[in-house]
Amino acid sequence: TFVVTDNCVKCKYTDCVEVCPVDCFYEGPNFLVIHPDECIDCALCEPECPAGAIFSEDEVPSGQEEYIELNAELAEVWPNITEKKEALADAEEWDGVEGKLKYLER
Ligand code: SF4
Ligand code: F3S
Repeated sequence: TFVVTDNCVKCKYTDCVEVCPVDCFYEGPNFLVIHPDECIDCALCEPECPAGAIFSEDEVPSGQEEYIELNAELAEVWPNITEKKEALADAEEWDGVEGKLKYLER
């Protein structure tokens, strides 16, 4: 499965959702997640993210392993998203800031 990680938080560009053939992205206030049981590992979303926030489960950057479980957990409670929308207002300022987990809203 693929996993959305730290750099999506407070950016949420949503380019990723448009290419997913199985529509397995779920949306929270300032972050998206991938449902691990629905993702078919096509890898199409990975290069689409302007923030470089999507990784294969095996390649999640060290220190960000927590996001694997978070994607699974939040995909069960957040609504599905299939169409791109405006990125968050200050996405560019937050793009590249490290350690954004503390800002993740549920
Ligand atoms: Fe969707 Fe493919 Fe990305 Fe999985 S790897 S979330 S199936 S686009
Ligand atoms: Fe997030 Fe990148 Fe998608 S910032 S919403 S994973 S395009």
